Order: sequence, then C-alpha cells, then structure tokens
Amino acid sequence: MSGKSKKTTAGAGFSGKMGYVLAVAGSAVGLGNIWRFPYLAAKYGGGTFLFTYLVLAITFGFTLIITETALGRKTGKSPIGAFKALGAKKLMFGGWINAIVPMLIVPYYCVIGGWVLKYLFAFAGSNAVSLQEDTYFNNFVSKTGEPIFWLLVFAVAVFVVIIMGVEKGIERVSKILMPLLVVMAIGIAVYSVTRPGAMEGVKYYLIPDFSKFSIHTVVAAMGQMFYSLSIGMGVLFTYGSYMKKDIDMESSIRQVEIVDCIIAFLAGLMIIPAVFAFAGGNPETLQAGPSLMFITMPKVFLSMPMGRIIGMVFFILVFSAALTSAVSLMESGVATFVDTTKWSRKKSSVVMLGIILLLGIPSSLGFGVWSFIKPIGGSILDFFDFITNSIMMPLAAICTIILVWKVCGFNTVVEEVESSSKFKEKKIYLFIAKYLVLIFLCVILISSILQAFGFMKI
Ligand code: PHE
Repeated sequence: MSGKSKKTTAGAGFSGKMGYVLAVAGSAVGLGNIWRFPYLAAKYGGGTFLFTYLVLAITFGFTLIITETALGRKTGKSPIGAFKALGAKKLMFGGWINAIVPMLIVPYYCVIGGWVLKYLFAFAGSNAVSLQEDTYFNNFVSKTGEPIFWLLVFAVAVFVVIIMGVEKGIERVSKILMPLLVVMAIGIAVYSVTRPGAMEGVKYYLIPDFSKFSIHTVVAAMGQMFYSLSIGMGVLFTYGSYMKKDIDMESSIRQVEIVDCIIAFLAGLMIIPAVFAFAGGNPETLQAGPSLMFITMPKVFLSMPMGRIIGMVFFILVFSAALTSAVSLMESGVATFVDTTKWSRKKSSVVMLGIILLLGIPSSLGFGVWSFIKPIGGSILDFFDFITNSIMMPLAAICTIILVWKVCGFNTVVEEVESSSKFKEKKIYLFIAKYLVLIFLCVILISSILQAFGFMKI
C-alpha cells in the first residue's frame, strides 16, 4: 500500500501488540460474528457446525492468518504489492482476487448494516412492540424504498468516516464499545438460556450430532471462517504490513482469533436457545438464514423489563461493530484504487461509494421487487455472499499458499514469524500448510462450485 493511503488507514504502524490486536479485532468482529455465525449454526445443525467451525478456525484459520500476516509484514505491502514483491508473476491473479473480494462484500455488508440501523431506530420509536411480530422483518425488507434508504444512511456513514480520515477516532470509540458488547452479550445469553424451553436450544447448539454432518457443514463453516477472520481478502496482508517487526505475531494472532470466536459463540448462545424458547425450536425459524437475528432478538428484548432500551443499546453496539468492519472493508478497496490507479483518495472513495450503491441496491431489492431473480437458487444477497465466501476467498487462499510453496518458500513465513519471537507451533503450522491446506481448499472449492451450478444443494 502506498505511503499516502498508509497514513490514513486503520493504524499506520501499531504502537504495540495491544494496538495491533485491538485494531485487527475491531475489523474482524462485526456482522460476521453477530449476524452471520448464529444463522449458519442454526441452519447447519447447531453443535455440529460449532464444532466444525472451531476445529477449522484453530487449524486452517490459524495457518492462513499467519501466512497472510507474515507476507504482509515481510513485504510491507497490501496484497497486490506483496504478490508482486514476492515475485508472483503468473500468480498475480491471486493478489487481485484478494483485492477485489472486499469490494464485493462491502455492498451487501452495508445492506445488513442498514437493517441494523432500521431496528435501532424502530426500538426507539413508539411502535416498537410490532418488532416482535413474525411478519415485521419480511414486510420491511420486501419494501423498495425504505431498506434502500437505510442502506444509504449506513453507506454514507462509512464514506464520511473514510473521507474525514477519522478511522482512528472511530476505532477508539469502538474499543470502549467492544467490551460493552461482550458484557451485554453475556447478559443476554444468560437471559436467553434461562427462558423456559431454552435448554433444548442449548443442547442443539452445544452438543454435536454427527448424523447432521455433511460436506455442506464444512463448506458453510469454511466460508464463515474466511468471512469472520477476514482471511482471503487482503485485509490481513495490509494489517501485517503495519505490524512492527518486534511484535509477537503468533500470540497476537491467537488473541484476535480467541476474541473473534468468543463473540461469535456468545451471539449463537443469545440467539439459538431463544429460537427454542420463543418459537419452540420451529425448524422453519432455524432455517431462517439472514433474517434470524432480526426476527429472534426483538422477541427476546420485548419480553424483558426495559426491553426497548436494551434492544436499542444492543443495536447501537452491533452498529458500531459493523461500522468499524465496513470502514476497514471500504478502506481496503480505496487503498487498492489509490495504489493501482492515479486516482486521489477522495476520487477512490467516491468510486467505492458508487460500487456500494451499484451492488448494494440490487442486493436489497432481491428481497422485494427483484425476488424473482434467484442466481444459484438464493437471493441476490446470498449470491454475493456465496461467491465471495465459498469461491473467491478459498481461491485467494489457494493462490497465497501456492505462492509460498512455489515461489518464496515456507521458510519465508517461518523466518518472518521467528524474527520477533519463538514460533511455538511451527511444526503444526508447517504440517498443515504444506500437506493439508491445499488439498482441503481444493476439495472445498470444487464442492462449492458444484453447489453453485446446482449439482449439489446449498
Ligand atoms: N470479519 C468481519 C466480520 O466478521 C468482516 C470483515 C472482513 C471486515 C474483512 C473487514 C475486513 O464482520
């Protein structure tokens, strides 16, 4: 990334380990943890999904994060620059996929961010009780103007943060709000779990039932791992390039992973038992997909004393987590334009805003007037979600691993990690990186493509 964009990005040279961990956690913790993880866990068998996800995050996730971060720190560059500096030549395409993915994610991220804003204001409004009705969410998302209005508000908020260069200020605020989110999530999870009937949900969520296990579980868990840990989208290269040479990379990455997994776990614990307590574990609700958080959480809040205020505070915290993530996604797109074209930051930001609206509006309309358009069998938003998480990110990761394997060697990564501290899990890292990741990612990619073309059901 050029010096110019470096100055204004999240943390040009983090002052210490804590600074790095907080900045990366601020970017990693977002809608992926609170909105996406619980609906996937509900859909793909609860405990079975949770178990698969954790195993993947600890093994493959860790390996891929270390690789991307080390290459970023070694080259001091974001993905396109890093691929070039390492001599990628034929593999440059991998650098480009890493750079394009955030541009495809941030539009639909802003659609969901808009839904969060709508709920935040609805909890503050006089008609909040209607939020618990089963039809409320669908009525809202199937409208034309209103969801687009909220998408616009969210996207403009992200744009303003970037244009004004106040990411640091926003991050400082979110560092206070993130711990608050954890505390609140624990409180809500305790409330949820203790509702009558919720125990069935706790069992569903925590106890794996391997009769429910299938390749779909793995594909979904893998996609979620990429999304939530920000792997395969260039962001970790960029953060790595800001990481000082003396910071213990291995333990910083572990800490980010732990924070990310804890928040996702808590979100599942808030939402899934509530589906059992408030909807009797209705299989249809468990399969609700992207709407799950929005149809379940209002029921939880409105059954509590002071529920409207609690609901509002909850959505404010979700909004702040989503905003910091969206800012880092959009920033990554802006940085790519600044680095690869002659455009200024301002022009690049305006172009990114244009991309958000161009792809975000169809994603929003896909729940209403354009619901007849069903690319690969789901909504337009599901389509963007699927091609990025299940196809492009694994492909980006495959290119990164081939780059290391064929061009610069695994020792480059190991040396970079060891330049600041002992690499405790070096053997495991090398074993997974050399022998497992590539085969595994290829299998996942092929099965995702088969799913996309209808040979397998999503
Ligand atoms: N990991 C974020 C989430 O879980 C999404 C994201 C990806 C944000 C990449 C920034 C960069 O919501």
